[in-house]
Amino acid sequence: MNDTFLKACRGEEVPYTPIWIMRQAGRYLPEYRAVRGKSDFLTMCKTPELAAEVTLQPIDILNVDAAIMFSDILIPCEAMGQGLEFHEGKGPLLSPAIRDEETVNKLFVPDPEDTMKFVMDTIRLLRKELADKVPVIGFAGAPLTTATYMIEGGTSKNFLNTKRMIFENPSLYKTLMDKITATITEYLRAQISAGAQAVQIFDTWGGIFSPTDFREHVLPYVKRIIDELKRWMSTEMSEPVPIIYFVGETAGLLEEIKTSGADAFGVDWRINLDDAITRLGSDVIVQGNLDPLSMFLPQDKIEERVKDVLSRASSARGHIFNLGHGVVPQTPPENVVALVEMVHRLSRKTG
Ligand code: CP3
Repeated sequence: MNDTFLKACRGEEVPYTPIWIMRQAGRYLPEYRAVRGKSDFLTMCKTPELAAEVTLQPIDILNVDAAIMFSDILIPCEAMGQGLEFHEGKGPLLSPAIRDEETVNKLFVPDPEDTMKFVMDTIRLLRKELADKVPVIGFAGAPLTTATYMIEGGTSKNFLNTKRMIFENPSLYKTLMDKITATITEYLRAQISAGAQAVQIFDTWGGIFSPTDFREHVLPYVKRIIDELKRWMSTEMSEPVPIIYFVGETAGLLEEIKTSGADAFGVDWRINLDDAITRLGSDVIVQGNLDPLSMFLPQDKIEERVKDVLSRASSARGHIFNLGHGVVPQTPPENVVALVEMVHRLSRKTG
């Protein structure tokens, strides 16, 4: 089995730097668009055969070192009782927006094997089909990032309703976050039980806060998930699965992020990786951090940037190569294929 990714997550010696790419299964691949042309996005998420098929596409096409299961961070919102739709070009729509006591009280903490069984079935199918070729990464949104979609009813520019709830009605926010946190803890536990070999917690919108607000309103819930999963894994399994915490707009928050208890930290491209490592501490495992839009450069320029990221990462205990955020739909796939080859070749230890 190619366990380079898992070894890097654990800080063990690796023959080369492993790479996977956020949103590696997606619209930039013609093979994905062919499957997507025949069914809508949520149907794909809810049909394990289709979800597994598109999860596996980048493994063969790109030669990446891990498979991230195809799903979406908003799936648990529907399981909690909120309506979820995706409309072409408009992004996700969640209804009703959760902004008052009545809507918060109607949400429940679902049993993931009842309400999101298709996700666990996708993982079980992937483990079977991959037969240990590469590990399977499960994931969930962090409580705050999930809450922004639930409160705003979709994507947002300035997160007005989220911040208003936090500042005007902190106890309502806490009740909502307690429910989301319990849901995500059980959801990740179910994914690990189904066979996920690592999990990533996506906090795409964590960076909308000052460090003080992040510490008070974002981090405690993430810590609760990680603490609970680690306590459970220590009693259930001989080798716990690594937990990766990715925060968008990482740079202002590194000192806070490092206290989360995660095994590895996703870093976006707005900071040099060596600076991030200095602030996180050199005993950390980092993941990142090429600007996703550098995929539009000529390949010789991409190669220069790959070398730069690899050399800046050398002071960390471990490094998993990734983009600093998801690959965008317009990206030329051949450049992503070239990226994976470059990372493997340039990081390979000789002699
Ligand atoms: O990384 C992977 O390949 C696994 C699949 C995955 C998707 N979404 C598939 C998807 C993962 C890990 C996600 C995470 C996700 N979803 C995040 C966190 C990471 C990030 O990108 O910041 C967020 C914020 C979402 C919410 C979401 N899903 C939005 C805002 C949208 C619409 C915008 C867009 O990119 O279209 C989605 C839809 C979505 N999720 C698509 C895919 C492949 C596109 C759907 C389509 O085919 O039309």
